[in-house]
Amino acid sequence: MATRDTWVSNLGFVLAAVGSAAGLGNIWRFPWLTAGNGGSAFLAVYLAIVVSVGVPGLLAEFVLGRRGRQTPMGALRSLTGSRWGSVLGAFNVLTTLLILSFYSVVGGWILRYTLVSPTGAYFAQPQQYFGAIGYGFEAVGFHLLFLGIVAGIVFFGVNRGIERVSKVMLPAVVVLLVGLAAWTATQPGTAAGYAFYLGFDGEYLFANFASVLGPAAGQALFTLSVGAGTMLTYASYIDEDSSLPRDTIVIAVSNTFIGVLAGLVVIPLLFSQGVDPGQGGPGALFVGLAAAFESLPGGRVVATAFFAAVLMAAVTSAISLLETPVATLVDAVGMPRRRATLLISGVLALTGTGLSLSAPIFQFVSGTVADLMLSVGLFAFLVIVGWMLREDAIAEFRAGAGRMGVLAPSWLFTVSWLLPVVVLFSLSSTLGSLVG
Ligand code: PFF
Repeated sequence: MATRDTWVSNLGFVLAAVGSAAGLGNIWRFPWLTAGNGGSAFLAVYLAIVVSVGVPGLLAEFVLGRRGRQTPMGALRSLTGSRWGSVLGAFNVLTTLLILSFYSVVGGWILRYTLVSPTGAYFAQPQQYFGAIGYGFEAVGFHLLFLGIVAGIVFFGVNRGIERVSKVMLPAVVVLLVGLAAWTATQPGTAAGYAFYLGFDGEYLFANFASVLGPAAGQALFTLSVGAGTMLTYASYIDEDSSLPRDTIVIAVSNTFIGVLAGLVVIPLLFSQGVDPGQGGPGALFVGLAAAFESLPGGRVVATAFFAAVLMAAVTSAISLLETPVATLVDAVGMPRRRATLLISGVLALTGTGLSLSAPIFQFVSGTVADLMLSVGLFAFLVIVGWMLREDAIAEFRAGAGRMGVLAPSWLFTVSWLLPVVVLFSLSSTLGSLVG
């Protein structure tokens, strides 16, 4: 068998993993979920779940990847010693394909908005503009273009493609967002947005805790890319010297920082135009922000910078979603990477086209189905790490971890008991909202 790709450096791995985590989930999905679920109340529950479930869960996924040294199907099969491991890995691959199918459609919207922002084409009639291009043949074209960019990167492999691109794009995203957040703070009419986003509304939280929990947990997993096997795949390319607990914390903190930063741009700007981001659903970002860009000085430049940042964030996440099925073909059947990239991209071109043409299916898949699949995937990872691997998982946690190794037993306890209960609870809350 050919030798597997590896990251050139630990920093490269961390940047690629933050690149996977920080994406449309932080910038596009987060504002409308937050605003639709009580603003600060949602933010509080979401942050609590990121810390208590997301971080130990992400670490569990990393442990599986580095221990298994393969993509999900092979890794889970060898670690569990059971054919069910492959089935679970196949479920992971399906999850990445499904997420990327809608992700690429949104990526296409963003690509289009980046290209037309310098002309202000959508400023005057944002609602009609999004209505005309959101779903339909034009959406298909831009989805294919976005997918082409992503495939072009994965084509070149882990270190020459993914690592290289992440090292440039991720810092660029941060610089652009910091600049935009500073600009936003100087704009009129944004105070209500900051209050809604950052003020703490305890009453709302107590009254709606059960209904906020499902979407908050779903978003916490989605934003950290946990439960789909992408982080497992990325961790299969690192060596034993790097400290998994340290890397996990760095990744989660950076991702949260980028998410909160994006919220500091998007939410105050939407409020400054009297737009309630919770109402508009997936199109809210595009429609609501256009009004802000139109009415504020320097709107075209700012709009272009904003959508360029979102585009780069989307690309670095989409490459992790494409890498997982591509590398699975490479690992499982020995298909050359380039051929595997073309094959999987061909499949995604079709599935994404389906979603570009149907708003209701798109909404269902990008909300509920994605959340459910990630929760199921994470639940399975937790059971494997917490109940099957145990000592091996502790050893993998400790390898390269130095003094943080003392935390391994309490982490394992959390993974075995606390996390599965929380994940089941949030799964039932999501399922309940489907039925009810
Ligand atoms: N974390 C990405 C985001 O927030 O946009 C989305 C994502 C990427 C989810 C990879 C799952 C995944 F495996």
